[in-house]
Amino acid sequence: MRVLITGAHGQVGAELMRLAPAGFDVRGLGSAQLDISDAVQVARTMHELQPQLIINAAAYTAVDKAENDSGRAYAVNRDGVGLLARAAEQSGIPLLHISTDYVFRGDSRAPYTEDDATAPSGVYGASKLAGEQALAEHCSRYITLRTSWVFGATGNNFVKTMLRLGTERPTLGVVADQRGGPTASASIARALWHMAQRYTVDGDLPWGIYHYSGAPACSWHDFAVAIFEQAQQLGLLATRPQISAITTADYPTPARRPANSVLDCSKLQHAFGIPQPDWRLDLHALLNALRST
Ligand SMILES: NC(=O)c1ccc[n+]([C@@H]2O[C@H](COP(=O)([O-])OP(=O)(O)OC[C@H]3O[C@@H](n4cnc5c(N)ncnc54)[C@H](OP(=O)(O)O)[C@@H]3O)[C@@H](O)[C@H]2O)c1
Repeated sequence: MRVLITGAHGQVGAELMRLAPAGFDVRGLGSAQLDISDAVQVARTMHELQPQLIINAAAYTAVDKAENDSGRAYAVNRDGVGLLARAAEQSGIPLLHISTDYVFRGDSRAPYTEDDATAPSGVYGASKLAGEQALAEHCSRYITLRTSWVFGATGNNFVKTMLRLGTERPTLGVVADQRGGPTASASIARALWHMAQRYTVDGDLPWGIYHYSGAPACSWHDFAVAIFEQAQQLGLLATRPQISAITTADYPTPARRPANSVLDCSKLQHAFGIPQPDWRLDLHALLNALRST
């Protein structure tokens, strides 16, 4: 089966390329080869590659920058997804797409289910929600996989930032009043390939929206503590910085972050048998890999 992967050089895109199972003819395109917001490029790519499945890992992900760059955020996250959705439908093929916990307001006390009301606070979340809606409107066979707090070997993320700051500063303040599920880009890629493999066997999938994030839920502060503990154990850091718990109010950002980003992932477990990954194990695997690079 020929699979088109968009955004192939991003955090998740790179892992989709690395972890592609045998039997798939994978064509990964970065933004320089395919700008998903360009209708002509999308049409040309579909014509040239004739994919049988699309996995969209392309997105405008600069959460704070989006507040002053909404035109570009919507062009990629809403209109680009809409173009891919129409192209997939016209070709009679499915589209697997990735979305975010930022579609929720984050003031619920319970983990968010797929049936909970969406209410994004910022431009990024609103543009991603608009993309989910464009996908549902224009494509009949789609999966939207909402995830959170992505970390991995490629690109910038919280783990890499902490490792850098850990070598630069003896003390760090990390936000302790936002909770979520850190999710390894490699685990997201594995979940998407699991779906693709099932599709090749069954010719069908239980289409729709699913949540997928790492467990157990934690705060950024908890995550930072684990990063430094494991990094020191593995010899990546000689000494650990002192980490203090701060509040969201102590660390203002242009875009408001959800206080509760925790996703209920039981629907995915029931429909696909995919369990929540333990982020502590994925973190260990990543730090191990970083140690040997
Ligand atoms: N990062 C997180 O914490 C997080 C959390 C929840 C959900 N998600 C979702 O997970 C998915 C993957 O995110 P990620 O962390 O892998 O992001 P990422 O590392 O920023 O990768 C996104 C990729 O999309 C590419 N891209 C941007 N605009 C494009 C366009 N117009 N056409 C084609 N490609 C374009 C980027 O290429 P350039 O760099 O060349 O622009 C980049 O390689 C996204 O849907 C994101 O919304 C991420």
